[in-house]
Amino acid sequence: MANEPILVTGAAGGSQGGTGRRVTESLLHAGVPVRAFVRHDDARAAELKDLGAEIALGDLREISTVLPAVEGVRRAYFTYPVTAGMLDATAVFAAAAREAGLERAVAVSQLGSAHNAGTPHMRRHWVAEQVLDRAEIGAVHLRAAVFFENLRVAIGDSGVLALPLGSPDTVLPLIAAADVAGVGSGVLRTAEPVDSVLWLAGEVMTVGAAADILGVPYVHVDADEWSRTALTRYRDPVAVEHLTHLWTMFAAIGSGHELFRVTETIERYTGSAPITLREFLSRE
Ligand SMILES: NC(=O)c1ccc[n+]([C@@H]2O[C@H](COP(=O)([O-])OP(=O)(O)OC[C@H]3O[C@@H](n4cnc5c(N)ncnc54)[C@H](OP(=O)(O)O)[C@@H]3O)[C@@H](O)[C@H]2O)c1
Repeated sequence: MANEPILVTGAAGGSQGGTGRRVTESLLHAGVPVRAFVRHDDARAAELKDLGAEIALGDLREISTVLPAVEGVRRAYFTYPVTAGMLDATAVFAAAAREAGLERAVAVSQLGSAHNAGTPHMRRHWVAEQVLDRAEIGAVHLRAAVFFENLRVAIGDSGVLALPLGSPDTVLPLIAAADVAGVGSGVLRTAEPVDSVLWLAGEVMTVGAAADILGVPYVHVDADEWSRTALTRYRDPVAVEHLTHLWTMFAAIGSGHELFRVTETIERYTGSAPITLREFLSRE
């Protein structure tokens, strides 16, 4: 691979997992130049500059700012949080990436992405995958399980893991955002061909077991009630809509689904076994 920069979107990192920030750090650490796409010229952008990243300022939904950011780039990491505008951002990114002739675009998606998936946002992720595939930019979709970070937000300062998941034996596929980013960085660095869909789960366990490790009780709450109170913690109606459907879907699946398994993909691209929930907590 020549020494052109890799474009990393979401590079400032946000409240959901900070995967773009982690990919940026991992690539820079490996000596790979990064063009970090950020929305605001703030303290996070200054930190990225200090780490050695080139900064591209813009909005992923605005083609006039994305086109210059992909200029001279062959590989990119695309992430957009669970909020309104994901399909707009994907279409803009796909068109710009096609113009620039990208050969690999690693995009964050969700484990159950499908046209008939159980949440509106998972269905949008499936559409996003189709758009990226049709742009012929070497799209690799990271279909990730629920981030450990998400359970942290669900608890907030309440001291209880209250979710509409039914029985404590309901199974959750989980992963550390650091492992999603680790795979993203590995896929962006390798010269080898990569499958276009990578399923990523680092640990599969019941919600009861997860609550024990998190040191709080698990309590089932009604989905409508959860939805009413979750906005104060997640602060985004699209995220709350997605999660309300997601938890309800997991409750209906109950003791597990064929997708709920730890794959060897994380170890292949990060060089380490998946981070467990216990390890995640000890690193905080
Ligand atoms: N959370 C989960 O449990 C979970 C599970 C599976 C998959 N996922 C997937 O993970 C992805 C999100 O993860 P993440 O860790 O990257 O999220 P994140 O930590 O919230 O970071 C999102 C980044 O995108 C930037 N951004 C937001 N809107 C933008 C815009 N219009 N233009 C340019 N940049 C914009 C944010 O910048 P600002 O901070 O400046 O706004 C932030 O830096 C989604 O695809 C989601 O479906 C999440």
